Amino acid sequence: MTTELVPVLSDIWDQEKSWKRDTYVANGGYTALKKALGMQPTDLVQMVKDSGLRGRGGAGFPTGMKWGFLPPDDGKPRYLVVNADESEPGTCKDIPLMLANPNVLVEGVAITSFAIGCNHAFIYLRGEVVHVYRRLLQAVREAYEAGDLGKDIHGSGFDLDVTVHAGAGAYICGEETALLDSLEGRRGQPRLKPPFPAVAGLYARPTVVNNVESVASVPAIVNNGVEWFTAMGTERSKGHGIFSLSGHVERPGQYEAPLGITLRELLDMAGGMRGGKKLKFWTPGGSSTPIFTDAQLDTPLDYESVGAAGSMLGTRALQIFDETTCVVRAVTRWTEFYKHESCGKCTPCREGTFWLTQILKRLEAGKGTEADIQQLLDTCDSIAGRSFCALGDGATSSIISSVKLFREEYERHVSEGACPFDHAASALFE
Ligand code: NAI
Ligand code: SF4
Repeated sequence: MTTELVPVLSDIWDQEKSWKRDTYVANGGYTALKKALGMQPTDLVQMVKDSGLRGRGGAGFPTGMKWGFLPPDDGKPRYLVVNADESEPGTCKDIPLMLANPNVLVEGVAITSFAIGCNHAFIYLRGEVVHVYRRLLQAVREAYEAGDLGKDIHGSGFDLDVTVHAGAGAYICGEETALLDSLEGRRGQPRLKPPFPAVAGLYARPTVVNNVESVASVPAIVNNGVEWFTAMGTERSKGHGIFSLSGHVERPGQYEAPLGITLRELLDMAGGMRGGKKLKFWTPGGSSTPIFTDAQLDTPLDYESVGAAGSMLGTRALQIFDETTCVVRAVTRWTEFYKHESCGKCTPCREGTFWLTQILKRLEAGKGTEADIQQLLDTCDSIAGRSFCALGDGATSSIISSVKLFREEYERHVSEGACPFDHAASALFE
């Protein structure tokens, strides 16, 4: 397996005005669409199935299989909805991708829509990123002008309209069914599944909801073929992906590499730990995934290996923390986020995240007791597996794993009556 960087999605990011359509076209952009329009939609679905591409939004569900779940075309509307509501703490891949090259996403939308027989696609973007919104609007407008969107695209008889929708900035709207409710004009709250969106999604019609990076990966698969894609990655986690490194690292940013690369290799590329300090803990897939320590430096970052090591690959959001960081403080900060973003629909998450925050703040300030640590775990137990959607489970992951790995640090806060760390040295979570 190759572990070098593979700039596919990020291949033109360092070019001047990489977001411009001209730059994209000069580098081969929109050739995949023309090729795809000459294929049978069913062959495109099979191609993506064979590539082994798995959803890049976090869950890793096979993309081609998801497309294949749509019922047979009945002549009525069916939709593609691109989940561009990236909000997970530490996750910063889709927004940089759309900022640097919105055109690859628009081309991916056109190919995906053709494959699944959709004539109206939506890109649901988190509302705060106004600049990304503008770039997407421009990319869509220029695609219409060039005949890559609209009526009878390149004489194929295929029509496609694309709507870019900016949400109002709620993390829960990244949950696919809450996103659909929000897109329909309602308050974004998760729906009961099943039915999955593939059966009853937007306006109760069959809908494919795919992450930005998943859809943007399709043009390169069409252009380069299945064998090219499957040559990268591991046996069951194929291809490449964007790994976002943040925190105590010399050169934070997005590193595009084959799945299965390790944190040690990524750190080498990113200049190592900031100031040469020691790695203390990290998240493999954002704040909703159990934390790792330096014991997992050589764990291949693929779905299976990360899962076997007790966490999740999630969104490949690698948040790196050195020895100056108070783990209780980091976990408290994340938990405050979940409390704030809990949509309030179900009691375990709505009430539980409130109580988790209260206990953690008490502990972090050195005002907690030994009993609080057990109370923390008991409260997690009342949330995980008992909440309506994945937000509740995700809120407990860093807490449970941090108590398991760093229980003595929680206990020091209790016995010393204060946080033993100098927060200024860590310079995070201020
Ligand atoms: P999930 O595993 O429930 O579903 C994954 C996808 O497969 C969904 O689109 C679902 O509709 C589809 N699916 C699953 N079983 C199906 C079936 N039998 N028939 C038809 N379709 C089916 O995961 P979920 O709740 O959609 O996503 C959770 C993930 O999201 C977490 O792993 C987390 O890493 C990630 N996440 C990402 C964030 C971001 O900012 N990108 C934010 C928060 C979480
Ligand atoms: Fe809402 Fe939290 Fe329940 Fe999800 S788990 S439905 S975010 S209250």
